[in-house]
Amino acid sequence: MQVFKHINDMQAWSQAQKKQGLTIGLVPTMGYLHAGHLSLVQAAREQCDRVIVSIFVNPTQFGAGEDFADYPRDIERDCELLRQAQTDAVFAPDAREMYAQDFNTWVEVKGEITAKLCGASRPNHFKGVTTVVSKLFNICLPDRAFFGQKDVQQAMIIEKMVRELNFPLSIVRVPIMREASGLAMSSRNVYLSSEQKEQALVLSQSLQKAAQLIAAGERNPAHIKGVIRDMIAQSPEAVIDYAEIYDAHGLSDVEVVQGSVLIALAVKFGTTRLIDNLIVEV
Ligand code: PAJ
Repeated sequence: MQVFKHINDMQAWSQAQKKQGLTIGLVPTMGYLHAGHLSLVQAAREQCDRVIVSIFVNPTQFGAGEDFADYPRDIERDCELLRQAQTDAVFAPDAREMYAQDFNTWVEVKGEITAKLCGASRPNHFKGVTTVVSKLFNICLPDRAFFGQKDVQQAMIIEKMVRELNFPLSIVRVPIMREASGLAMSSRNVYLSSEQKEQALVLSQSLQKAAQLIAAGERNPAHIKGVIRDMIAQSPEAVIDYAEIYDAHGLSDVEVVQGSVLIALAVKFGTTRLIDNLIVEV
């Protein structure tokens, strides 16, 4: 497995693979890898000849007062896991390599798809994501790029960006990997105390409850959101950031649950903000 720190070296490697007619899969990450990330690597391994994993804690997607400085990092351990997962190349640049001092070019998807959910609570977050992901596409030259359903809004926004800017690649969405308890895997789970981790099960449990209500014929989103909120409120440390139901294609409002709907949650436990979601087809 090769580890590249410089853009030119990464790009040259990718160009050499393409010259040989090999397809490239890219898995963009911020590191501190867990089984969720590795399921993306596995999907890329199955679908592409060469697999690149990028590890870059992207400063432009963190707001002031967010956890950029504290975001967990362990590049040695990440590389060991990636070697075991048969990754061909790791791209791990530092921030100066990606952002020159006078950097001022941004890729931004506008509209309700970026304004709602995490876009409402984290202004400029998605502008940082789409900018860095565009750079990673131009540096790594993937035929396919793999994103987790865990960050469903991010996947939707990147799909829109790829479509509208004609990036010559396809986006593959990979299902949410969960712990046996149901808790969605996340690099941020390490911040949780054991008590908070127990309470955090209410995210996946309330999504399951919502799915049961819909299966039983409930079609009123306001009622379903009320049930979810009441369930979450029973966890003493949980503070709801959002609990919403939107159309799963473009995040427009829904008055009646029908077609493909997204149930999306963001809940804080102390300073740790967790997200989870479920798409239900009716
Ligand atoms: P990061 O949070 O490290 O996540 C990298 C990828 O792993 C994302 O596509 C995310 O959806 C996926 N992922 C995380 N937890 C998962 C789980 N439990 N199951 C399945 N997939 C999971 O998302 C980012 O980094 C960044 O915003 C990035 C796209 C790299 C841009 O900086």
